[in-house]
Amino acid sequence: MTSAVRVGVLGCGNVGGALVSLLAREANAIEARTGIRLEITRVAVRDLDKPRPPELNRAVLTTDPNAVVTADDVDVVVEIMGVLDPADELLRAALAAGKPVVTANKELLATRGVDLFAAAAAAGRDLLFEAAVGGGIPLIRPLRESLAGEPIARIMGIVNGTTNFILTRMTEDGATYEDALTEAQRLGYAEPDPTADVGGFDAGAKVAILASIAFGVGVSLDDVYCEGITKITATDIAFARRLGYVVKLLGIAEQVDGQIGVRVHPAMVPATHPLASVRDSFNAVFIEGDAVGELMLYGRGAGAMPTSSALLGDLLDAAHNLRQGGAGRAPVLSTAKLRSVDDLRSQYYLALDVADRPGVLAAVAGVLGNHGVSIQSMEQQGLGDEARLVFITHVAREADVQKTLRDLESLDAVRKIGGLLRVIGDEK
Ligand SMILES: NC(=O)c1ccc[n+]([C@@H]2O[C@H](COP(=O)([O-])OP(=O)(O)OC[C@H]3O[C@@H](n4cnc5c(N)ncnc54)[C@H](OP(=O)(O)O)[C@@H]3O)[C@@H](O)[C@H]2O)c1
Repeated sequence: MTSAVRVGVLGCGNVGGALVSLLAREANAIEARTGIRLEITRVAVRDLDKPRPPELNRAVLTTDPNAVVTADDVDVVVEIMGVLDPADELLRAALAAGKPVVTANKELLATRGVDLFAAAAAAGRDLLFEAAVGGGIPLIRPLRESLAGEPIARIMGIVNGTTNFILTRMTEDGATYEDALTEAQRLGYAEPDPTADVGGFDAGAKVAILASIAFGVGVSLDDVYCEGITKITATDIAFARRLGYVVKLLGIAEQVDGQIGVRVHPAMVPATHPLASVRDSFNAVFIEGDAVGELMLYGRGAGAMPTSSALLGDLLDAAHNLRQGGAGRAPVLSTAKLRSVDDLRSQYYLALDVADRPGVLAAVAGVLGNHGVSIQSMEQQGLGDEARLVFITHVAREADVQKTLRDLESLDAVRKIGGLLRVIGDEK
């Protein structure tokens, strides 16, 4: 028998508006497939006069989000406001009132997730957040459910569409970083202030959430080493290409010797790796498990409609659980033993602009050798009175490579450290 599940919506902007439209279009088909009719009964916004989707009954609009989370005619709350406060307090109030919550708020989960999950567990209600990572790509549910028994070794994700678009333009058109960023802004992929994307912080929040779910430990954005793409040059990309690699901004979460390492940085990915083929603003997450082997989930990592699709899936899950009278499930997270990025062992690409004179190569090689960083291959390119030296190292420890860079900077013959990229291969 069909029964309506009444939804209170916090926020009706890009994503909220798309959710309203998608639900209006799909409500009958969803009801026929699932027996659940989702009905929006209240919607909180800041400004009652702004345009809203034509499908929205404006009588349900309010500027009081507290009234939504406590209303008798709201069974489930969906939060798509995109702020830490008051979203945090509102979700807690909804849970305390016995209402399951669905959210797309990655900043909230990556900074206060541990406490919020505890609040959901205490309330015995669902806190679902598929839309917070990877937009329309199902990632959280596969990790929480399908892979619940899997000893996951590593997750590597292209989880920021803006930076993937910029790197794709640099790789395929030879664009400079600045030109590619301007194009991304013109197309609406990048914000006027692009720091959260190009600095790696948006990807950092997402990989913190993925690490928490994959490894069952509390990881926050503060625990993630974040390095963005602002220093990548067209020359680095061209060298990478010649060597058989593609440069990608990766969010990586891995378990090494019982410790969890979580980091975001640009990396050279072999051109034959599935992540190398993820172009433009698409996202993908590559999972390596001891039993399952390798998996990749690919799709639209952002956008109002893909994100609404994920929200609808979570709303139906929450509605189903509510109807069954079952307690919701929130992740139970233990304290993470975190691995410092200093302990990362990887191959490195290192580009240096040096004075083109005898003895310079020996001096540079000497500095690398002093820190136990050995060279796998080297290329030299003349640039007038300068030369560009490009090294690929054998596997080395991050802390030793950073010390090497500091010593190289103080060498008289080194004019500029051109670029440093970790190489995806047999690092750990
Ligand atoms: N956009 C995407 O592709 C995408 C993808 C994945 C996840 N997300 C996440 O989804 C969330 C929403 O993103 P968005 O792009 O839809 O944001 P948005 O367009 O800025 O919409 C925010 C909505 O929240 C309302 N709002 C904000 N503060 C409020 C308050 N204190 N009280 C009542 N209403 C309030 C705004 O009201 P007014 O309309 O009256 O201003 C607006 O309707 C964010 O957490 C974002 O990270 C977005």
